[in-house]
Formats: sequence, C-alpha cells, structure tokens
Amino acid sequence: MHHTAIILAAGKGKRMQSEIPKQYLELEGKPIIYYSLKVFEESFIDNIILVTSKEDISFCRKEIVEKFGFRKVTEIVAGGSQRYHSVYQGILAAGDTDYIYIHDGARPFVTARILKDAKEQVEKYGACAAGMPVKDTIKIVDSRDFAVNTPERSLVWQVQTPQVFSGKLVKAAYEKLFSEAENDAVTDDAMVVETMLKIPVKLFQASYENIKITTPEDLQIASVFLDKNTMYK
Ligand code: CTP
Ligand code: MG
Repeated sequence: MHHTAIILAAGKGKRMQSEIPKQYLELEGKPIIYYSLKVFEESFIDNIILVTSKEDISFCRKEIVEKFGFRKVTEIVAGGSQRYHSVYQGILAAGDTDYIYIHDGARPFVTARILKDAKEQVEKYGACAAGMPVKDTIKIVDSRDFAVNTPERSLVWQVQTPQVFSGKLVKAAYEKLFSEAENDAVTDDAMVVETMLKIPVKLFQASYENIKITTPEDLQIASVFLDKNTMYK
C-alpha cells in the first residue's frame, strides 16, 4: 500500500497579517512548516507533495526541503487561489496512490500517534479526519449576528487535519467539485467528500494541541507547546 501526503502551504495568511505567509514564519528558529514535514518524513508515509505558491517553489526547495533533508518530498507544486484549488493540484501530482493524507502546513503539532490513528481509520472506513469535540457552545447566526440556532454541544466537533482518504475516492470527489459549480465556502476536504459523494467521513480524536496557526496570538500558544514538548524539536 502506498501512502502519499499533501502538505498545503500556498495560502497567503491574511488573518495573520504578517508580511510573509504564516507557514514560513519561524518558531524557535525553524519555519512553522518544518515541524509537520518532520513528523511526516519520519513516519510510515511513502512520499510527500508540497503545495506552495508559484513564487515560493524555489524557496521551498532550497530553504526547506534541501536544507533540512526531507527526502520524502518528491514534488513541490504550485497551488491555487483557494485552499481547495491547492488540494486539487496536490491530488493531481499524487497520481495513482492508495491513500492521500491532506495536511495544513500551518498545523505544526501533528504527531506520529495522530498519523497512526489516521492510517487505522482510513483503512477501516476509507475517509477520516482529525478533530476534537468543541469546548465552547456553538451558535449558528444570521447575517446580522443574531443567534438563530444552538446545536447540541456533544454533537459538535472542530475539524482539523490530517484528513485522509482512499486515493481514488478523494480524486473522484474533487473531480466532481470542479466539473460542477465551484464553491468558495469549501474549507475542508471532508466537506468535498460528504457533499460530492455523499460518503460519511469518520472523525477521530487527534489533540487539542493540533492547532492551526491562524491569528497572531496562535504564535504565542505555539511557542508554549513547543517549549513543553521536546519531541517537536
Ligand atoms: N492554503 C493553500 N492554498 C490556499 C489557501 C490555503 O495551500 N489557496 C493552505 C494554507 O497555506 C494553510 C492551510 O491551507 O496551510 C489552511 O488554510 P488557512 O489557515 O486558511 O491559511 P491561509 O488561507 O493562508 O490564511 P487566511 O485564510 O487567514 O488567509
Ligand atoms: Mg484561508
């Protein structure tokens, strides 16, 4: 069985409001994307497709892949304007492979345990995603921010990455998405599989530390997690 990872790093990081895309900001002297690449590199994963913006391909090759010796990165490809465009470029570059592990390059605290759990779940169900039950109560609001609905908290999870699928299945889902109306409300891969193929995606508990670096305060949280865990270094 061949396991391929797609690591996403083609975003601009608007919510971070920094000059350089957040995945290339440094945490304890290494770019944020280094941490997840290292975990994938040292795992059972066979190869990694790195997706970045066209302008950053040579930076990624020299300053990340070659510098840190990530030998499993077989391709660095250009992404697109929305996350799902970048994922699709990664899927095309992955070619025929048994399983595809899609991961946000801005999510540095994935672990070997999370990857192992993902592998078990995808082998059983064909489609799975990392997540955690929410801690806060969630409200659905209308266009004027009035709460209109409160889903039962125990049934609500926040979804993370990795999101892992049988290669054929995720390719079919994305091909359908691009052949029909594209939709910029698509923010994760499970959503594409759910809506395009009507296939339920199994969620499994990853970790509350598996955060996505999104806004400036996440950098402070991340450095606390890094200090605490020598395994990330
Ligand atoms: N991503 C990508 N291609 C895009 C948009 C996002 O590869 N066109 C990647 C990001 O680099 C990130 C991951 O998808 O690793 C999660 O996206 P998000 O946190 O939304 O990152 P950005 O889109 O960069 O940030 P923002 O939404 O604040 O602009
Ligand atoms: Mg975004």
